[in-house]
Amino acid sequence: MSHSELQTGESIAVEPVTVQTEQGRYIDPIALTAHLPALHYHDEALYMEQVSIEAIAKQYGTPCYVYSKQAILDVYQAYTDSFASLNHQICYAVKANSNLAVLGVLVQAGAGFDIVSRGELMRVLAAGGAASRVVFSGVGKTYSDIEYALTQGIGCFNVESISELALINEVAKTFDKPAPISLRVNPNVDAKTHPYISTGLKDNKFGITHEDALAVYQQAAELSHIDIVGIDCHIGSQLTEVEPFVAALDKVIELIHSLRDKGIELRHIDLGGGLGVRYIDETPVSIDTFAAALLPKLSELGLTVFFEPGRSIVANAGILLTQVDVLKPTEHKNFAIVDAAMNDLIRPALYQAEMAVIPSVLPNNGIDTDGTKAWDIVGAICETGDFLAKDRLLALATGDILTITGAGAYGFTMSSNYNSRPRASEVMVAGDRHQLIRKRETMEDLYADEILWQD
Ligand code: LLP
Repeated sequence: MSHSELQTGESIAVEPVTVQTEQGRYIDPIALTAHLPALHYHDEALYMEQVSIEAIAKQYGTPCYVYSKQAILDVYQAYTDSFASLNHQICYAVKANSNLAVLGVLVQAGAGFDIVSRGELMRVLAAGGAASRVVFSGVGKTYSDIEYALTQGIGCFNVESISELALINEVAKTFDKPAPISLRVNPNVDAKTHPYISTGLKDNKFGITHEDALAVYQQAAELSHIDIVGIDCHIGSQLTEVEPFVAALDKVIELIHSLRDKGIELRHIDLGGGLGVRYIDETPVSIDTFAAALLPKLSELGLTVFFEPGRSIVANAGILLTQVDVLKPTEHKNFAIVDAAMNDLIRPALYQAEMAVIPSVLPNNGIDTDGTKAWDIVGAICETGDFLAKDRLLALATGDILTITGAGAYGFTMSSNYNSRPRASEVMVAGDRHQLIRKRETMEDLYADEILWQD
């Protein structure tokens, strides 16, 4: 199957790829890669597009993030195809993966962007994106963030509080430039996802409550330098079902009607991001199914529709390569200490995220292969929470290169220098070509900006 046929991040195999045994969890690498369009095994070696993973590890070293350009474009295209019947703008959520090369590929494809900081806006502009196609989300925008975004010609501020609204009006007055805004409405809908990435409940810090939204819009309409252009909502991340999106949309539509009754007309509706991906055995709805559930309601509105997908565009386009440095079997547990750690990929430690770890060369693979054992794949950081995967059946030797899949989203962007570890390099693959898109940090980089105390 060609890459372009393999769109959407939609699962091809619906059967689980996990075999759970008493010893541990075996993830069948062939079955797993069958639903990861960017990856395949050929002659027992793992490839991304047409490039061998072992070759990448050899050339660029480990740990190393690697992204498939085609896989990014295919999911982006799946979004634009699925919503082709409406005026729409796909605003890629930069926080998922903000490497300039990734942003540049999406700029070329025609994407807009969702940002949450001035830094992210600067990245979009550096990658050749236009501020007019950017929406600015986030609960804590400062005067200088607003000033920068406004003067660059931001497409829309997604406003999360009355005080933010007042601040935007003040900045806009100072620069005598009306500010385009949406209110981010918190619809109080349960996204049924991990509590840390659920954002649309009353208890969450995000947005303006559904009950208050109408009054705040009326207040906004009175402000001299506010141009009301839309309405926005984002209820969480890694949603696998469509129902919460539909429930949120229904609440937003209610508001749009109330606003019309009060004479407030909008130009767009922004439904945020949040569509989940299959990491191992999750069964998220496909982009097509997601679109089919929303389209009838959206087309009646006659508004331009914005989405802010992050994870679904890049998660399965990316992998993290890591080398096995030390094997430490013990009576109770076997630890494989690898050269990536929680500073490189914090999702398992922070959200108990389960990500697949597969071999880059197959001969040693197999649930019954000699030497297969249950391993905890851990980093070298001094924290018990420093693990990448637990109880995985693998046949390992030191020096093996392991591939962690689903690492394209919230991988590098959440990495840190904890334990004075330089951040990983990043590489992009397209067909048989590969390019370094971020140099590995050096040890000297880590303290280059620090200044010794002078007595
Ligand atoms: N729009 C807004 C306002 C958001 O807050 C987010 C994500 C998105 C869009 C994109 O959502 P996505 O399509 O990627 O689900 N670090 C966590 C995920 C945090 C998501 C934060 N907001 C993780 O690794 O699971």
